[in-house]
Amino acid sequence: MTTPVLTGTHLAKSFGPTTALLDASVSVAPGEIVALMGPSGSGKSTLLHLLAGLLRPDAGTVELAGQRIDALSERRRSDVRLRQLGFVFQHGELVPELTVVENVELPLRLTGTKAGPARARALEMLDRLGVAAEADRRLSEVSGGQAQRAAVARALVHTPPVVLADEPTGALDTVTGELVLEAFVDAARDQGSAVVLVTHDLRVASYASRDILVRDGRTVAGAALEATPR
Ligand SMILES: Nc1ncnc2c1ncn2[C@@H]1O[C@H](COP(=O)(O)OP(=O)(O)O)[C@@H](O)[C@H]1O
Ligand SMILES: [Mg+2]
Repeated sequence: MTTPVLTGTHLAKSFGPTTALLDASVSVAPGEIVALMGPSGSGKSTLLHLLAGLLRPDAGTVELAGQRIDALSERRRSDVRLRQLGFVFQHGELVPELTVVENVELPLRLTGTKAGPARARALEMLDRLGVAAEADRRLSEVSGGQAQRAAVARALVHTPPVVLADEPTGALDTVTGELVLEAFVDAARDQGSAVVLVTHDLRVASYASRDILVRDGRTVAGAALEATPR
């Protein structure tokens, strides 16, 4: 197997009295798409946030692009995230006061791409996701589905080696959902990005190379599709 670009090992995380994650391990190689499935409240979002370095684990380790990120300071983790990761939050997290295209070009601008090329690349991503017509509207003025596609564009715009997306098609109809899935597939196939998608949707999971079930805070490799009634 190709060397993984992202590995979480024996991760655990509690929030006060609530144990969100008990023992979760995930390893993803470049070019792979992994579907993370499981019931609501099983720890999927917590796991994704740990893998992204957005949360620090109580136990276990996270290695991203050859670097242990779980022990880094918040500042260093944030720098690694900017360069190595694209992240789609379950509930938005774009900047409402900025326009759609300003939100999408942000990762490029923050890593030193000049305004012209950053704008062109952001518009290209918006076009692929079917939201180019909304480019100059404020994020607060577009629909939930359009904002979700803008969030996907922002996660992919700087061609990061790792893409993590939390239910990225949750607010989308079938047609726009396909656009989003094709964008992840292209990122994996053409740029070798490692992609982890949290989803309830079997159609989404069918795009994945592998699935992992999260149940009661533990990961079970390859058990998601078998465990899901269809
Ligand atoms: N920031 C938080 N504070 C307190 N409890 C949390 C927090 N985040 C998640 N939890 C709890 O941890 C458990 C797992 O949540 P989550 O990872 O969001 O699951 P999923 O994404 O699979 O629905 C749930 O019981 C949830 O209520
Ligand atoms: Mg969740």
